[in-house]
Amino acid sequence: MKIATVVLAAGQGTRMRSNLPKILHKLGGRPLISHALETAKQATKEPPVVVVGHGADMVKEELDESIQVVIQEEQLGTGHAVQQTRKLLEDKYDLIVVSSADMPLLKPDTFQQLIKAQESNPGPITMLTLIDDNPRGFGRVTRNGTGNVDAIVEEAQATSEQLSIRELNVGVYCFSAAWLWENLPRIPLSSKGEYYLTDLVSIAVEAGENVEALTLQDPDEAIGINTRIDLADAEAAFQKRINNQWMLSGVTIIDPRTTYIESGVVIGQDTTLHPNTMLQGKTQIGEECQIGPNTIVQNTALGNRCRIVASVLENAKVEDDVDIGPFGHLRKGAHLGVGVHMGNFGEVKNSYLGPGAKVGHFSYVGDATIGSQVNIGAGTVTCNYDGKNKNHTEIEEGAFIGSDTMLVAPLKIGRGAHTGAGSVVTKDVPANTLVAGIPARAVRKLDKIE
Ligand code: UD1
Ligand code: CA
Repeated sequence: MKIATVVLAAGQGTRMRSNLPKILHKLGGRPLISHALETAKQATKEPPVVVVGHGADMVKEELDESIQVVIQEEQLGTGHAVQQTRKLLEDKYDLIVVSSADMPLLKPDTFQQLIKAQESNPGPITMLTLIDDNPRGFGRVTRNGTGNVDAIVEEAQATSEQLSIRELNVGVYCFSAAWLWENLPRIPLSSKGEYYLTDLVSIAVEAGENVEALTLQDPDEAIGINTRIDLADAEAAFQKRINNQWMLSGVTIIDPRTTYIESGVVIGQDTTLHPNTMLQGKTQIGEECQIGPNTIVQNTALGNRCRIVASVLENAKVEDDVDIGPFGHLRKGAHLGVGVHMGNFGEVKNSYLGPGAKVGHFSYVGDATIGSQVNIGAGTVTCNYDGKNKNHTEIEEGAFIGSDTMLVAPLKIGRGAHTGAGSVVTKDVPANTLVAGIPARAVRKLDKIE
């Protein structure tokens, strides 16, 4: 069977009260629409078709090229939205799955079950329903005397008796394609001036056709985003899902309620995440690390056994056994070798620190290459920017930089050299030499380091 998915995304999302189209609001760090598209793609192995309208240009920018986009110029309802895909899809597919871009928590497995149920349904529609005491503004599913689905009644049109029905329309359907294209034009205009896709259910039933309902077991899957309150509920449910997955695969999460892990993140076994930790983008964390509390790691790769406390790491690389914090900041291009120690209030940007280097307190290291076992004293600054250019600093293996040294780049500090506390170093320092003063001058030769 050939199956196409249509994702409806043209609505304005008025209830979000936002200048940003609803489906570009983020869940787990990604736009809502990307969740719906990924689910559809995973379930059918085919790129879905998206119906866009409100904020179409902004939405299109977020979509990758494999996605087919159809524009609904005027938002005349969900039935009208599906009708817009007819030219593209008619005669090419056997089944059409319709879902909404504002339901980010649906699982691919649920899509597949829906498709399976429709494949064995002699009638033209299988729909997803949810039994729940909280109606969330969803359409109610009415059933006839023999228990078969009869119709979907929108909340605004429901009688008080219908409002008490606990079976809700989730808004995801699998249709026989031929039947869908034939019957879409039969949807009447509602009193609100819209063509409701949901009316297809009563159209089918009145023609003597069978409508199947597949009932969701996990109510979280049906969280639809209409307001920012829904968005927060969805975020909590999404995080819980991800955190549970990591805990089952061997990661300790001390406080899952304050731990946010985005879906592109990878974490090694026996790593512990402490409260208020956010792991974002393409972050990779090795095994047996201690991350947090109060830490953000973004697009950064960490080795094994690292310990990061109350720090922010962005676009950096950290090898095994590194310890950072509290209050460290790694910026783009920071690369810390094995066993580096970076203490309070350090900042490293676009620099390599060799194995065992130490940057203990209050230092800025930018555009620098630091050799192994170098010790950088408190308050040291690589003065890398002269107002025009960013200049490079090189500190060779085993050098000792005294507290409060200003390293005026471009500059090279030789192997085993020392700088005195408070020196301002403007000229290259030869190996095994002690310099001090402002500007720093050679004081004496030192014994060679091994
Ligand atoms: C819809 C269903 C309701 C169901 C609920 C579940 C209808 C008439 N009602 O209501 O039975 O319980 O979903 O979430 O279908 N859209 C367009 N073009 C339009 C209108 C809407 O693309 O002209 C898109 C929206 O962007 C959204 C989806 O269709 O992604 C659903 O529209 P929305 O207005 O949110 O419908 P609900 O009121 O939630
Ligand atoms: Ca909705």
